[in-house]
Amino acid sequence: MRRRIVAGNWKMNGSMDLVTTLVPAVSAAVASGEVAGSVVIFPPALYVPGVLKAAGGELEVGVQNVSQWRAGAYTGDLSAVMAADTGCHYALVGHSERRQYFGETDAVVALKVRQALDAGLVVMVCVGETLAQRDAGDAESVVASQVRAALADVTQDEWARVVVAYEPVWAIGTGKTATAEDAQAMHASIRQVLGAIGAPADDVSVLYGGSVKADNAPALFAEADIDGGLIGGASLSAEEFVSICRSLPADDNG
Ligand code: PGA
Repeated sequence: MRRRIVAGNWKMNGSMDLVTTLVPAVSAAVASGEVAGSVVIFPPALYVPGVLKAAGGELEVGVQNVSQWRAGAYTGDLSAVMAADTGCHYALVGHSERRQYFGETDAVVALKVRQALDAGLVVMVCVGETLAQRDAGDAESVVASQVRAALADVTQDEWARVVVAYEPVWAIGTGKTATAEDAQAMHASIRQVLGAIGAPADDVSVLYGGSVKADNAPALFAEADIDGGLIGGASLSAEEFVSICRSLPADDNG
C-alpha cells in the first residue's frame, strides 16, 4: 500500500534560524500523532545536517538535487552517495526549476534517478506541463513522456523507493492551483503510465505540487489518486506547513 507524504521544498531559501525554529515545530506535530503520513524536508544541502539534528528522527530529510555522476572531478556537484552518507533518505530529481534554469533534460533526469536509486535513496521525481502545453491539449502526453523517460530502467524491487510529484509548471509559485478534479485526472493518468511501464502502480505514491496552501490542501488530498503534496512557498512557514501536514486524511489509500 502506498504512503501518504507531505514534503517541503525550501528551494534556495532558509537559514540556520529557520532550521532551529521551523523544524522542531514540524517534528513536534509529527511526534504528537497529528499527521497521518510521512513528512519530508528538502532544505538546501548545506542545512541538511542541521535539519537532521533538529528533526530528532521524526522527519525524513532529502536533497533538492543530486549529480548525474557518481563521484569525481565535477566541481560544485553533490552526489547521491554523499546525500545517503550524511543521513538523507530522499532525493528530489527533475524539479521544473532544474529543468528550466539548469537545462536538465529528460535524459539527465533519468541519470539522476539512477544515481539516487543506486545510492539507496528514495527518489521523488517531478513532472509537469507548462501552460502552453496544457492549452494545446498536450498536458497528459507531456507528463506521460516525462514519467516514461525518468523511470524507464527502474527495477521491480526499486519501485518501493520511487515517488512521483506532479507539479504543473504554471501552478508553481504563482498562486494558481490545479482544481482538485484536474489534478486527480492527471494523477490517475500518471498511475496508468506507471502500470504500463511495469510498476506496481497502486503502491507508488503520487504527490501534487504547485501553490498548495493550508486552505486548498484538504480538497486536493481527499482525491483518490493524490497521496499528499510537495510544498514550496508554504513550507517556509511552520504554521502553514504544519496545517498542510495535518490535512492528510487518515483513511487508507492504495
Ligand atoms: P510552490 O512550489 O508550492 O511555491 O508553488 C512547489 C514546488 O515547486 O515544489
